[in-house]
Amino acid sequence: MNFELKPLALEQLSKLKTDALLILVSNSFGASLANSATSGNPLSALIAQSLKTQQLESKAGKTLLLWNALGLSANPLILAHTAGSSSKDLRQALSSALQQLKGAHAQCKHLTVYLPEVGDQKMQTALQTLADSSYVYTTTKPSAKASALIKITVCVPPVAPKSSEALALDQAFKEGVARVQGMAFAKEWGNRPANHATPTLLAKAAQTLSKYPRLSVQVLGPKEVSRLRMGSFMSVAQGSDEPLRFIVMQYSGAPKSEAPVVLVGKGITFDTGGISLKPGAGMDEMKFDMCGAASVLGVFKSLGELQPRINVVGLVPACENMPSGRAVKPGDVVTSMSGQTIENLNTDAEGRLILCDALTYAERFKPRVVIDIATLTGACIIALGHLRSGMYSNNDRLAQDLLDSGERSLDPCWRMPLDEEYAEGLKSNFADTANVADRSAGSVTAAKFLQRFVGQHNWAHLDIAGSAWKSGGAAKGATARPVPMLLSYLLNEGQEVHRYPSASSAGALRKSTLAQAAQKTTRKTRAKA
Ligand code: BES
Ligand code: MN
Ligand code: ZN
Repeated sequence: MNFELKPLALEQLSKLKTDALLILVSNSFGASLANSATSGNPLSALIAQSLKTQQLESKAGKTLLLWNALGLSANPLILAHTAGSSSKDLRQALSSALQQLKGAHAQCKHLTVYLPEVGDQKMQTALQTLADSSYVYTTTKPSAKASALIKITVCVPPVAPKSSEALALDQAFKEGVARVQGMAFAKEWGNRPANHATPTLLAKAAQTLSKYPRLSVQVLGPKEVSRLRMGSFMSVAQGSDEPLRFIVMQYSGAPKSEAPVVLVGKGITFDTGGISLKPGAGMDEMKFDMCGAASVLGVFKSLGELQPRINVVGLVPACENMPSGRAVKPGDVVTSMSGQTIENLNTDAEGRLILCDALTYAERFKPRVVIDIATLTGACIIALGHLRSGMYSNNDRLAQDLLDSGERSLDPCWRMPLDEEYAEGLKSNFADTANVADRSAGSVTAAKFLQRFVGQHNWAHLDIAGSAWKSGGAAKGATARPVPMLLSYLLNEGQEVHRYPSASSAGALRKSTLAQAAQKTTRKTRAKA
């Protein structure tokens, strides 16, 4: 998608060359037009009239679609009500307007959207929603291109050029565009069928990101991974004819002395369950089992575009989980890179087995924060459904920052517990740990398993089993979550000045960290500096 920002007054919209024109109307904007019915320009008179006659109802998501209105060159004209001015209101108005446009004019190529009231947050929300509702997957369905928008122009009321307002708007637009580009990348790789997204292809996709300044990508194959003694990761991959890949991405926007945030994404390109085979119904959706990995790729794409002053490392263990004569069997014991032995009681609990070795590998970067992202458990969907991602952390401050980032970016999560008692069921007579406990609290016990491999690092685990994709129906497909949350975190709370005390000395350091936070400058992206 091509996005363009254009400062333009409402009265200038009528001359605009565009296929369709969408104007957002809020309660306050509507009120400001109330007097235009008799005076002013025809467009504001038309909006005022539609409100007065209630053809456009004052409820978030209500729309009015008009053909050949006022002899505008744009066709159709859509008015969409946001009612209030919250991000959710805005999202609802935009998504229902785009849905209506799809139904009425599928061939529309260029859409112009007028946002009469805009700020940093609104710009982000608008771009994210517009990109989401106009997304079309085409890689293995080229015919779908016919119904895809090509360009969206975002019009906002003009402000004085070079004023702080104009600069802030410009920055918000740039950041929003970078964000949706990262999300599109995550969706593309999430949606691809497993035969078009093998570990090898996923690694190649990561390598394309090395075209960006400050971004390097290294790909390890079976030999190197074996030399690292990632016995747990290798045991999952051994049943497949597709060779595994371990992807290491580094974005270095800050001096080397600044410890990085490490993101670890689960990259199971297809999860059959292995010898503990899954039931057949709906198994196709296990092509989405690399959405954690895709979200890390998406974040790196956005970092490449934005060039912020932070250090971030991305790690992706990628392989298939297949049954075969060579596959790992229930009861097999493997030795992880950490040295801990693991009894594999259920080969379908494979995500944690590839993540644990990546978490051990993360230590070499002396990270200030490690966040893993995984479509880890069906139990998380039972607990939280498809709205909030499950979030676990050994650090209260990090947990709060992720919660805040999620709310701000309309990509919410919910904190889950990590009491030590939950690890009870992971005990094994034959290894240091089993990979599963009994059925109860399955998402929590999975997190407890991972925690054994993070030591004292500040760590969070995001279980995105319910949020990473939409099942069945017309909306079936990857959501690119939690790219928005992670980017919000990295560009705001995740700044170096917001460093966390380590998990072991939390109390002692809290005071100085708070002092640092008080000095926290605003966003530190290069574009602004
Ligand atoms: N990838 C699945 C989790 C999953 C299932 C995500 C359905 C989204 C929808 C994971 O590898 C898995 O199979 N987990 C098992 C764990 C169990 C064997 C302890 C599960 O959740 O059933
Ligand atoms: Mn599985
Ligand atoms: Zn899985």
